[in-house]
Parts: sequence; structure tokens; C-alpha cells
Amino acid sequence: MTGLIFAANWKMHLGPNGARQFLDAFLSSYSGLPDREVWFFPSAVALDTVTTLIHNRSDLKAGAQNVHWEPKGAFTGELSVALAREAGASAALVGHSERRHVFGETDEETDRKVRALLQEGLTPMLCVGETTDQREAGETRVVVERQLGALHSHDAPTLQKIVIAYEPVWAIGTGKTATPADAAEVHGFIRRWFGERGVPADAVRILYGGSVKPDNVRSLVSESQIDGVLVGGASLDPEAWAEITHTDLD
Ligand code: PGA
Repeated sequence: MTGLIFAANWKMHLGPNGARQFLDAFLSSYSGLPDREVWFFPSAVALDTVTTLIHNRSDLKAGAQNVHWEPKGAFTGELSVALAREAGASAALVGHSERRHVFGETDEETDRKVRALLQEGLTPMLCVGETTDQREAGETRVVVERQLGALHSHDAPTLQKIVIAYEPVWAIGTGKTATPADAAEVHGFIRRWFGERGVPADAVRILYGGSVKPDNVRSLVSESQIDGVLVGGASLDPEAWAEITHTDLD
């Protein structure tokens, strides 16, 4: 366990200029805190800018928002793991709910992406989470377990390299957040899933995502089951992001 992760998912915002402006301000106020990493998932065109600006800081990382599983070839519009790595990425989001629900990405495609990332030594951050209907039907665990199935063939040492982000779809960009206790319950379920496959409980990193804001982040990361947060909207606001990353813990 490497401490808390505060991850920013910038989605389809901030090109190289916006990323530079954002990071110039962020780096002047954030000099690092013990047991804490800050990760950025910028647009593909801003990846190189971000990695260049953070390159000498071991507590800061950059990753791609999406990758393709093939190593190269005629895949217009796609980004291979090797290309992301060349731009400085050391991680990538996989299976974000927008990839699953807007672009129709399947568990099988998610599985291939995880495999391609691990093969090249990048950290997959696998996003899982249920929709409102699934939650109301009491299917949260079934859905999360099915999504974790993308990892079925990996052994314990490999599973430890994967970071999970539990992001209930109903909480993303809606202003509705899971209560810390609700999130912790699903995190506990995910941790047990890893435990059954030989991964020690403290070796799995599970982040919560969905409407994380400066005023709710502290109660979330204070839960021992929650190892950090994946933040969309509030990570684009320099003041909110500074507050979130400086969250102070007892
Ligand atoms: P949100 O997005 O913080 O705007 O809800 C989270 C995410 O999509 O990763």
C-alpha cells in the first residue's frame, strides 16, 4: 500500500495550454504530502505536457484516459499503450462508465486493455460501478463482480498491480455521492474478491469516484476501505483540486 491516491480525470477538457496553466498554478501550491500520490488523466494531446511538467516528482503521475489493446496498426483514432507510454503515461483508465455506457465498451474489451497495459508495465485503473436501476434492483454486487471478471485469469502478483476505482454510475457528474459507509461496503466486497484470489487486503488499492468535492472528500478518504478518489468535475477547478489534494487527515 502506497498511501492515498488523488486522481484527476480531466475527460474531454484541457489541451496543452490549459494543462500547462493548470499545473503551473497547482505545482506552485502543492509541494507534496507524506503517504499521498496525485495522478492526472489528461486528454491524449495534453499527456506529454503534463508528464514533462511533473517529471521530477515521484509523488505525481500521469495516465491515459483510454488505450487500445493492439500494439500498433490501422486503428484510426486510437491510442496504443506504447504511444501513451512514449508520451510519459505510467497508467491508464480502463472501463470508465462513459466508455462502457456512451461508447459501448464490453467487459471483454476491458479485459484486453488491462492485459495490454500490464504487458507493457503500465498500471491499469479499472473502473467498476452500477447504474441507478441496478442499485435499486439490489444488483450492485452482481454487476461489480461481473466487471471484475475482466481480471479472472490473472494471478495474485499481477492482480496487485491493478488499481480499482469504484464509481457508481448514478454518482458521476450528478452531484449525488455514495455515503462513505455505502462506498466502504462495496470496497469491502471488492477487497474480499481480491482476497479470495490470494491478494492481501492491504495490497489492493480501491478508489471511490462520483461527485467527489472539497466538502465530501475528507469523510470519504477517512474510511479505511477507501484508498483515494477519482475526481472528474472538481479536478478541473484549480481551487477545488488544491483543496482536495490538501485534504487533511487525522
Ligand atoms: P465526477 O466524475 O467527479 O464529475 O462525478 C468522476 C469520474 O467520472 O471519474
